[in-house]
Amino acid sequence: MPAREVRKLGDPVLRRVTAAVTPEQLASVETQALIDDLIDTMHAAHGAGIAAPQVGAPVRIAVVHVRDNPRYPYKPNYPLTVFVNPRLTLLGEPGRDDERIFEGCLSVPDLRGEVVRRMHVRCDALDRHGAPFSVEVRGLTAGTFQHELDHLDGRLFVDRVMDPSTLTTWANFDQYHREAFVRRAADIVARWGG
Ligand code: NI
Repeated sequence: MPAREVRKLGDPVLRRVTAAVTPEQLASVETQALIDDLIDTMHAAHGAGIAAPQVGAPVRIAVVHVRDNPRYPYKPNYPLTVFVNPRLTLLGEPGRDDERIFEGCLSVPDLRGEVVRRMHVRCDALDRHGAPFSVEVRGLTAGTFQHELDHLDGRLFVDRVMDPSTLTTWANFDQYHREAFVRRAADIVARWGG
């Protein structure tokens, strides 16, 4: 299956609240091909995840896969998982269980910025065959889930950047911010186990 074009900031499809997938749609050849293409597009672009609107499909499907990711080498590995009609529940307490983390996005080229994410979430979803499942994740992985599921509601990480002065190009992130953030990320992974 081919990788599809990744839609970029300013494309209206990224701002739509997406539609739930019906059982008939999920079983269709088109939706199964979309899921395969999402996986291939994510892998080709070295994303940690991708959501259907990012390839122009306004439906509630996202995938996450982290395996020694070169874009985000500090992220713990997470197995390839397809989420259909996911529902996210923030666990823990606002403030106490939040962390500031730098994010990037395949749809926001060459920009990173700091957002606040809950470090413990549960996600209830269907797999690509329509079977329900539930996962609880912590730390940076919880941040990845929040980022990807935001896409399904037309939200991008830039909407959540509290302090615009943290916005940085990737080159300047590497030069000025990576070292401190990698230390902080290691601390988050150690404390949250994810
Ligand atoms: Ni994104």
